[in-house]
Amino acid sequence: MTVDPGATPAANIYKLMIGSIVPRPIAWVASRGSDGSRNLAPFSFFMGVCSDPPVIAFAVTNRSGAVAKDTLRNIRETGEFVVNFVTEALGEAMNLTAGDFAPGQDEFAMAGLTPAPADLVRADRVLESPVSYECRLREVIVISENALGSSLVLGEVVRFHVADEILTEFRIDPAKLQAIGRMGGNGYTRTRDRFDMVRPKV
Ligand SMILES: Cc1cc2nc3c(=O)[nH]c(=O)nc-3n(C[C@H](O)[C@H](O)[C@H](O)COP(=O)(O)O)c2cc1C
Repeated sequence: MTVDPGATPAANIYKLMIGSIVPRPIAWVASRGSDGSRNLAPFSFFMGVCSDPPVIAFAVTNRSGAVAKDTLRNIRETGEFVVNFVTEALGEAMNLTAGDFAPGQDEFAMAGLTPAPADLVRADRVLESPVSYECRLREVIVISENALGSSLVLGEVVRFHVADEILTEFRIDPAKLQAIGRMGGNGYTRTRDRFDMVRPKV
């Protein structure tokens, strides 16, 4: 099958993309509203884009109607957020925080998670998560205003938090991290089946 995106419903293009761009890491993004309210939600259109300085990117899909997702609205208002990483043990709590809750509803409390104040930004770490990045907004790039369009959030990491027990000299042990990834639909994957390949020397 070949697919022309201009002649195919966006919902089907979305299915093709989330089924082929796999597995996707999950940014579990904590932010605060300008009124101080806490928010937490997962985003798997997520990647690192630079390490000097450290910059990450994730995409927030538009909501039907003109109302932005709480995460995007909060980040536009405060310019700050925390990306937490999701382990096998945190998968169910992460999934709970993906519900379409009213603005102001505290997903930390709802999912039984412990908010820990970040050092440098006005947002919270998920204390139960072994890795968190405190981020300052660099730029929001509006990719498209279409119903399934999205905005790309670029954030500079101003502080890393990594649990000592998963770390040896800046190397994170994947067997201890136990990250999960997002597949298509409601699918997820564990990161237990790993292998090494040494790059060719030319
Ligand atoms: C694993 C997972 C990954 C998700 N990835 C994205 C994503 O990349 N972009 C997006 O807009 N929504 C994504 N969602 C849906 C949002 O988490 C959901 O819309 C959430 O309610 C947004 O919360 P907010 O309004 O508090 O920002 C994802 C949901 C799950 C469970």
